[in-house]
Amino acid sequence: MGRYGIRPEKLATASSERDTGQIMKIIAIANQKGGTAKTTTTAALGVLLARLGLSVHLLDMDAQASLTRTFGQTDPVDRLYSSLKDRTGLPVSEIASNLTLTPATIAL
Ligand SMILES: Nc1ncnc2c1ncn2[C@@H]1O[C@H](COP(=O)(O)OP(=O)(O)OP(=O)(O)O)[C@@H](O)[C@H]1O
Ligand SMILES: [Mg+2]
Repeated sequence: MGRYGIRPEKLATASSERDTGQIMKIIAIANQKGGTAKTTTTAALGVLLARLGLSVHLLDMDAQASLTRTFGQTDPVDRLYSSLKDRTGLPVSEIASNLTLTPATIAL
């Protein structure tokens, strides 16, 4: 089992069993240094891949919630924190065609 209790082998099984038969790819934009366009790159990449016709889900796990604000979203009731605490489904907001977002809040 990996960090945060995620089992990579389970993720691989889940992705290969999706109805569409397509494999889900996870892209993480990471850099230890702050202010290096991680959020900007994530937003731009997500929008462009969605415009190409791919189904894109953006997951904002940063308490700064910059990605969430980029799309003019907020989450007054902090559903992401609740879903992680109670192990319930993640909140999903529709942003545009092919593009959804799990919003973050400062309460994370
Ligand atoms: N190509 C660019 N040209 C000029 N400014 C940019 C460019 N990309 C991002 N910026 C600006 O740089 C700043 C930092 O970008 P961003 O918030 O994406 O970085 P970050 O790595 O996510 O930061 P943090 O570490 O705080 O999460 C923002 O003000 C953003 O508008
Ligand atoms: Mg950021």
